[in-house]
Amino acid sequence: MTEEIHKGLAGVVADHTAVSKVNPESNSLLYRGYPVQQLAAELAFEEVALLLWNGELPDAAQKEEFRAFERSHRALDPRVKSAIDLLPLDCHPMDVGRTAVSVLGANHPLSEDSSPEAELTKAKELFAAFPAVVAYDQRRRRQLQLVEPREDLDYSQNFLWMTFGEEAPEEVVDAFRVSMVLYAEHSFNASTFTARVVTSTLADLHSAVTAAIGALKGPLHGGANEAVMHTFEEIGIDPDETREEAAARAKAWMEQALAEKRKVMGFGHRVYKSGDSRVPTMKQALDAMVDYYGRGELMGLYDGLEAAMGEAKNILPNLDYPAGPTYHLMGFDTEMFTPLFIAARITGWTAHIAEQRANNALIRPLSAYNGPEERHL
Ligand code: ACO
Repeated sequence: MTEEIHKGLAGVVADHTAVSKVNPESNSLLYRGYPVQQLAAELAFEEVALLLWNGELPDAAQKEEFRAFERSHRALDPRVKSAIDLLPLDCHPMDVGRTAVSVLGANHPLSEDSSPEAELTKAKELFAAFPAVVAYDQRRRRQLQLVEPREDLDYSQNFLWMTFGEEAPEEVVDAFRVSMVLYAEHSFNASTFTARVVTSTLADLHSAVTAAIGALKGPLHGGANEAVMHTFEEIGIDPDETREEAAARAKAWMEQALAEKRKVMGFGHRVYKSGDSRVPTMKQALDAMVDYYGRGELMGLYDGLEAAMGEAKNILPNLDYPAGPTYHLMGFDTEMFTPLFIAARITGWTAHIAEQRANNALIRPLSAYNGPEERHL
């Protein structure tokens, strides 16, 4: 019998989901039925989180209840702080994020209730607690002290406050909020599928999220947003040259990279073949940051790489392409970009974990053996 192999599970429909719908033909992404562009234009990230978890937009009472909950669960857990302090400053921040979620999981005793309601509370706690992990890690790498959260600020404002120790301007808060909404959910991507595989064994939510962080770290997935910045750095950012000059250098770099058969991070997608539905909205946020900071030196490289990739291979940017330089302009270190993706994707992962638990089947595919025939010692 010849077995049909679906390398990389490409084209395989593994299960139903009601969390989001990616439609590459219409180039659209719906969270629980709502176009992501509309959500990014109109809603706070906290409201989008509730939509992903509950399936419906929150009413005023639900919003107020979650507002109070989220704001009162933001402080850096002392055990997490101690664990982070043990980690070397030259480790990758994704290692810090992964460790932090694992430590937070250990705060939940063996005997704890694992009802859907209790699991949702854990998801909400993780959502509220994770920004402090990223903010503290960014600060300790700059030899700066922890900044305590502020309950008078919303999620995005407080995230930036805890990271930079000052209130961020409205334009920056808005671009950050948009990035969180766009990064929140994307059906059965590699990290979400990882979370579902772990959940399918009936393991706990923190184990599933810890594993998902491991999957997100790789440059073919979430790690691409920082890799985009490394590409710009490799080409060389020169504030004194014109956009045209920068674009020409980017084009030459791209030709060389493609001739060497290198993958250029921030381009291409397994599902979208005619453009990532999230890119135009994220590009607007990037343009707003370029205008706000008055720093256009990256944009010649940005346009040049995009045009050269389009011409050479007809491969278009994915969300990580505009997100990387946006976070750079906001002042995050390049290695912090993928932990920001964790903060956002905790919502999607935990919505999928709940969905998997509610209608579980152990995820256990088959393999086609191609090793040696049976032999004997
Ligand atoms: N740079 C150069 N060539 C590329 C790229 C790229 N970024 N993406 C695809 N290609 C080429 C491949 O070399 C291959 O060419 P070939 O047929 O001549 O060998 C062809 O396009 C198909 O590429 P695959 O990698 O087989 O396609 P797949 O669907 O597996 O890849 C992936 C999707 C992994 C995202 C790929 O496009 C890639 O590696 N991109 C760079 C990493 C990246 O940006 N990841 C972020 C994804 S989005 C997210 O996580 C938010």
